Amino acid sequence: MVVTSLNWLYAKKFEGEPTPANFRLVEEELPPLQDGQFLAQATFLSVDPYMRPYMRSYPEGTLMIGGQVATVLESRNPAFPVGASVFGQFGWRTHTVCDPSKDTSGKPYVLPDFGSLPASLALGVLGMPGNTAYFGLLELCAPKEGETVVVSGAAGAVGSIVGQIAKIKGCRVVGIAGSDDKCKWLKELGFDEVINYKTANVKEELQRAAPKGVDCYFDNVGGVITEAVMRLINTFGRIAVCGTISNYNGVPIQVQDPQTDFVFKQLRMEGFIVSRWVNRWTEGIMANLGWIREGKLQWQETVSEGFKSMPQAFMDMLKGGNTGKAVVKV
Ligand SMILES: NC(=O)c1ccc[n+]([C@@H]2O[C@H](COP(=O)([O-])OP(=O)(O)OC[C@H]3O[C@@H](n4cnc5c(N)ncnc54)[C@H](OP(=O)(O)O)[C@@H]3O)[C@@H](O)[C@H]2O)c1
Repeated sequence: MVVTSLNWLYAKKFEGEPTPANFRLVEEELPPLQDGQFLAQATFLSVDPYMRPYMRSYPEGTLMIGGQVATVLESRNPAFPVGASVFGQFGWRTHTVCDPSKDTSGKPYVLPDFGSLPASLALGVLGMPGNTAYFGLLELCAPKEGETVVVSGAAGAVGSIVGQIAKIKGCRVVGIAGSDDKCKWLKELGFDEVINYKTANVKEELQRAAPKGVDCYFDNVGGVITEAVMRLINTFGRIAVCGTISNYNGVPIQVQDPQTDFVFKQLRMEGFIVSRWVNRWTEGIMANLGWIREGKLQWQETVSEGFKSMPQAFMDMLKGGNTGKAVVKV
């Protein structure tokens, strides 16, 4: 039987905010399986901020990149048996013929046992964003008990986990997010202070929220929010630069040169890509799973229905339409 996949292509280069014209839906007939391959059907797909800057380097007509959770329908590879739930960097497509030995975009893996938790968490707290929070915060910021940690993009997939892990480590946590509803949720998660950057004067509010200054800053956004946080950073402060979503659409941002503070306050700032810890991937997933089971780590998803909603879910996420992880359910 011939299997046909629905695929979303990158139809036109992004200029500014993505629009429906940047995407095109096509059908692809898949070849029969060879030895070592399996056929998987997507159940949940991820929409992530990195897709906006990364796709710029791909030619028009390429498959949109991205991770998905999929069910194995047919298999000629014993490590991926029929019925298994897998994570794969398969792109925006409903069906995939995968040869794990030839997959260069990230090795697919069978999901660990999440118990009664949904498999979609493999795209969020129990996958790449959860590991970004876990390794980025603990390895680069190395927060100590009693220190003040600020996180921007705080109500998103990565930021909401960063803040909760910092609370687990005994820190005072300040979250910066883009709506009152998001801030309310962060308070429910245990954040000590929250700032809605769309309505508050962030510089003033930060002074109130972090009266002893900022020891660690987990930066998801860059730009003027980061400039405001940097004014309050303490001597020997640590800054983990995870993302700069405020400039992904190419809007120019004017900020002050922070170099002087780096000298006199002896600061350490380090950018990272989470794949740096690919050899410790399971450690991050199991740590976050353990905290979920202990009731110390909560998660939320914003779920869009149907494969055809991928572009809309992506555009909504970039504009702050999500709380927690943005996913698409097929
Ligand atoms: N380095 C790595 O390996 C790595 C891995 C994963 C993610 N990241 C980065 O981490 C950041 C968060 O990713 P995520 O997956 O957790 O996404 P997310 O936070 O779940 O979703 C993106 C959020 O960004 C916020 N946002 C959009 N425009 C903004 C602006 N101009 N200023 C401030 N906030 C803005 C929106 O929330 P508001 O309503 O609060 O504005 C939106 O909900 C991104 O920068 C991403 O590129 C890096």
